[in-house]
Amino acid sequence: MKKVNLNSPIKTIGVLTSGGDSPGMNAAIRAVVRASIFYNRRVFGIYHGYKGLIKGQIQELFSSDVSDVITRGGTFLRTSRSPKFFEFEGRKKARNQLSKHEIDALIVIGGDGSFKGAKTFSEEFDFPIIGIPGTIDNDLFGTDYTIGYDTALNTVVQAVDKIRDTASSHDRLFFVEVMGRDAGFIALRSGIAAGAEEILIPERRTDFRKLKNYLQEEYRVKKSSSIVLVAEGDDSGGAIVLANAIKRDFPDFNVRISILGHVQRGGSPSAFDRVMASEMGIAGVQGLLNGKTNVMVGMKNRKIVFVDLGKTVKHHKKVKQSLLDMVKILNV
Ligand code: F6P
Repeated sequence: MKKVNLNSPIKTIGVLTSGGDSPGMNAAIRAVVRASIFYNRRVFGIYHGYKGLIKGQIQELFSSDVSDVITRGGTFLRTSRSPKFFEFEGRKKARNQLSKHEIDALIVIGGDGSFKGAKTFSEEFDFPIIGIPGTIDNDLFGTDYTIGYDTALNTVVQAVDKIRDTASSHDRLFFVEVMGRDAGFIALRSGIAAGAEEILIPERRTDFRKLKNYLQEEYRVKKSSSIVLVAEGDDSGGAIVLANAIKRDFPDFNVRISILGHVQRGGSPSAFDRVMASEMGIAGVQGLLNGKTNVMVGMKNRKIVFVDLGKTVKHHKKVKQSLLDMVKILNV
């Protein structure tokens, strides 16, 4: 078992979820709670993210409070996006609440916006914080996977498989839009898994002329149905804009649009997300007790790593060229 400094001055740990929820956040909270208790620490749940921290919505958690949560999507601690935490006044109130509850360190489960706040807070008040990556987008630098991504991929693949059934029955061309405001990781992997004919992501400029030529050849001539998977942040403007443009240029195409939306954020987490969230939650507590701060727990080549929060918010995670190459090969 990993060595942990049981003499650490950190006696009480606070945990919160922040930003967009993701399936597996509950499993991560559960792991933080149980690991804290395992190492003889008290643990407090902070409700509604940074907003609740500022207001003092804080309660001690016990092992039984996290029974049966591993199967549930969402976050039982609730979450929020808090503009007040981006102001010094808000952060000062948050610091006072932590002192009031004698909380010595924080674990923040969230995405890059949440980590920006965590980094500022940690440096401003010299307060120990560890981040755990929880977002369906998988767009955090320093980790191969984020909690919720695998479940979201499976949700998208199931949905696209169903759309494929009706698309081929009617010989239709579907534009399916998936989440990913700034990143195309969901679109890319789920597109490969669902056999999408074309995948459009923000990381690669969409060449509209090339897309039209491709559709003319592929959809009109060769195939009975076609699925174009579009990330919401793609520079083309998304599925509606694209579909309208195609309908205008090819009135004989049988075009439909499907925007998957927030179904991608819900549902019972996959086994992969549950196990990874458990590993990361435990690693977060161990990291704090071993003196780590201002870092994110990441997963690199199946191993736990700690990455500076500064790096996770500064650098952009790149999509793998090998995946883009796969799309080219698979779509001949
Ligand atoms: O960051 C996760 C994410 O699901 C993005 O992919 C999406 O653009 C955004 O959150 C949606 O946020 P909201 O729930 O505020 O509509």
